[in-house]
Amino acid sequence: MTTQEFGGSWTQQKLNIFTDYLNAYLTVLKNQKFKKIYIDAFAGTGKITTKNGQEFDGSARCALTAGKKFDFYYFVENDSAKATELQNMIDNEFSSIKSITRVYCDDANERVTQIIHNIEWKYNRALLFLDSYATQVNWTTLETIAKTHSIDVWYLFPFSAMERMLPNSGEYKAYEDCLNRLLGDSSWQTEFYKENPQLSFFDSLEDSNDFYESNRRIKDAKPEQVKSYIIRRLKTIFPCVSDKPKFLKNNRNSRLFLLCFAISNESPKAQKIALSIANHILNR
Ligand SMILES: C[S@@+](CC[C@H](N)C(=O)[O-])C[C@H]1O[C@@H](n2cnc3c(N)ncnc32)[C@H](O)[C@@H]1O
Repeated sequence: MTTQEFGGSWTQQKLNIFTDYLNAYLTVLKNQKFKKIYIDAFAGTGKITTKNGQEFDGSARCALTAGKKFDFYYFVENDSAKATELQNMIDNEFSSIKSITRVYCDDANERVTQIIHNIEWKYNRALLFLDSYATQVNWTTLETIAKTHSIDVWYLFPFSAMERMLPNSGEYKAYEDCLNRLLGDSSWQTEFYKENPQLSFFDSLEDSNDFYESNRRIKDAKPEQVKSYIIRRLKTIFPCVSDKPKFLKNNRNSRLFLLCFAISNESPKAQKIALSIANHILNR
């Protein structure tokens, strides 16, 4: 069996937040005419195992066991052993709703884009979970999600993975493509770096060398600034984004992820309801 390993107490915290929103979402949309769709883009196996062998439900199982049901469930997982384990769990434990589930062993960006393009969003609403370990989510995928005007999304933003690509020295050349893909443009360069005042002497030299180039800028970005930048970036494509994203930390108190919530629906009424539920959960 391909068991999924537990990351730490932040894993449980993340799933509690997500599942509480999922249950509220199904309750609020209970009497609406729209079909309700669940999309788990980094689905895992459905189960998570701690180091001492304790098992608890992963996002896929949380969605499948919720008291109220979605009209369709899409799961995407690119690890074939994990996707098979998830499919087996659905076959064995959820056979009565198997016909309204689909498990894809695929890249999340590609498959989610395809799923979105195949749905008529006038008649459907979706809850989407982007629960990646690292920098897998492309900005273009977020743009596609936002354009549906019908999806609520929880995005586990890879805060520490991004921080590791932003060295204090300004030597980020090797990570530029990845950061642009993650954040949608190169505005992070001016947002997180400033001219290195100690190097003004070199300005007078015509022949700027490698040392100068890689030390020209120094990092000037505290975690709260980085957090606010991420939210501002999301607001450039989503009409409504929670201003209360949650840092998930490890037991050494280091920030690992930023759990963000965004609404693509343009209706102020829908935004107000979704945002107040999400903020209430994030505030606890
Ligand atoms: C943090 S885990 C997800 C855990 C899951 N949401 C849960 O609660 O059980 C991330 C998962 O994404 C999968 N993955 C990594 N890169 C992927 C990609 N590009 N497309 C789809 N799945 C991917 C990994 O194999 C892993 O199972």
